[in-house]
Amino acid sequence: MAPSRRIAVVGQGFVGLPAAMLAVQAGHSVVGYDTDPYRVLRLEHGDSYVADVSSARLVEALHSGRYLPTGDPDALEGFDIALIAVPTPATDDRPDLSCIEAAAKTLAAYLRPRCLVILESTTYPGTTVDIVAPALETSGLTAGRDFRLGYAPERLDPGAGLDGVVHVPKIAAGIDEQSLRAVVEFWSGLVDTVVPAPDIQTAEFAKLVENAFRLVNISFVNELTRDAAVLGVSVWAALQLAATKPYGYMPFHPGAGAGGHCLPSDTAYLAWCLRTQGHPSPLIETAARVNRNQPGYVAQRIMAGLIRRFHTLTPDRARIVLLGATYKPDVADVRDSCALKVSTELRRTGAEVIVVDPLATDVNGVLAELTLALVAQASAVAVLVAHHGLDYDLIRRARYVFDACGVLEPGPNIEQL
Ligand SMILES: NC(=O)c1ccc[n+]([C@@H]2O[C@H](COP(=O)([O-])OP(=O)(O)OC[C@H]3O[C@@H](n4cnc5c(N)ncnc54)[C@H](O)[C@@H]3O)[C@@H](O)[C@H]2O)c1
Repeated sequence: MAPSRRIAVVGQGFVGLPAAMLAVQAGHSVVGYDTDPYRVLRLEHGDSYVADVSSARLVEALHSGRYLPTGDPDALEGFDIALIAVPTPATDDRPDLSCIEAAAKTLAAYLRPRCLVILESTTYPGTTVDIVAPALETSGLTAGRDFRLGYAPERLDPGAGLDGVVHVPKIAAGIDEQSLRAVVEFWSGLVDTVVPAPDIQTAEFAKLVENAFRLVNISFVNELTRDAAVLGVSVWAALQLAATKPYGYMPFHPGAGAGGHCLPSDTAYLAWCLRTQGHPSPLIETAARVNRNQPGYVAQRIMAGLIRRFHTLTPDRARIVLLGATYKPDVADVRDSCALKVSTELRRTGAEVIVVDPLATDVNGVLAELTLALVAQASAVAVLVAHHGLDYDLIRRARYVFDACGVLEPGPNIEQL
């Protein structure tokens, strides 16, 4: 077992909290620092807001005496290794690195010779060296000479659970050989496999490649939904047939669009970074546009289906029940959710829209349960996010069902995207 170290994890969100728990499990002492006092309070009370970390697991970490959630930066004093796991949003398709800069400046006040700082957030190539290193160097210490600096992008699959993270290979990079060795050594104590990168920029790029790959492919199948509708064939049946090819094909599924905190903004980071180099990337930019338009397309299909079935119905008299508000199935996260964008588009037509999602009840106006009364009174029920446990028998009883997830057999009252 690797020697126990003092670890600081800056940012206790979807990425930082699981990393903190893994470090505690590996025997380290961990300070989980976060600027959100409400989150810190919940952590102190053993109340986890991250689905992949159970409250029981959090309480166990607190009881070990080796996990301290805090909003007090002075608790960072004396750290050996710090992870930065703060948000990297895109504003108007441009990177917003203010959280990374702020986190690095906070750490700078407590930086000591020979310590290691690892950036975990997703960002564009150049960030660790151009933004994080100078912010840390406000301490008077120099990256490489006095302290180690690395990058290890997170590959968390929300909803897959904390134990799943351990089996996902982790990319590790350093600004020099010593830094790389330190990052590899630290993460090797937490996960099964660590993959060293040749340099920091390649590792930063690799993370964006992974997410752009998903967005481009999801946009591709979403574009195919429109093509299939024009051709009068089922995109779902065609994709199922294509997926029987044993090589050279990887299945992706249509839907309301790719949302969440990662795919759209990470792809925007890559596109922005390339544009600033005078080299726009048409494929990536088109994929992002297709993705932005998908919720509008889904809303339009629902409305068109309604009007086709009930000729006299006008949008302002339609009552549409949408199932799902989160950005993907089986999570509670609604950040950049395409399902919510579908509801906004439908409301714009004047329709009454009711959103039901048992996992997203923190969101204003979202109902937890689909009832027979809701189904009976709806002009349409649309499945936008296929959480486990949906009551398909009840859904099938609706007068018109629009299935954006390919989970129901098409029928007289059931239309697929
Ligand atoms: N959520 C995912 O599934 C996922 C997967 C892979 C990578 N990532 C990347 O990981 C990074 C973090 O994402 P997340 O989902 O954990 O975000 P998050 O919003 O869940 O958590 C980030 C936390 O950082 C805190 N914070 C912000 N600024 C801070 C500062 N200066 N000092 C201390 N705390 C600060 C926030 O209060 C918040 O609690 C992003 O770059 C994201 O793109 C996320």
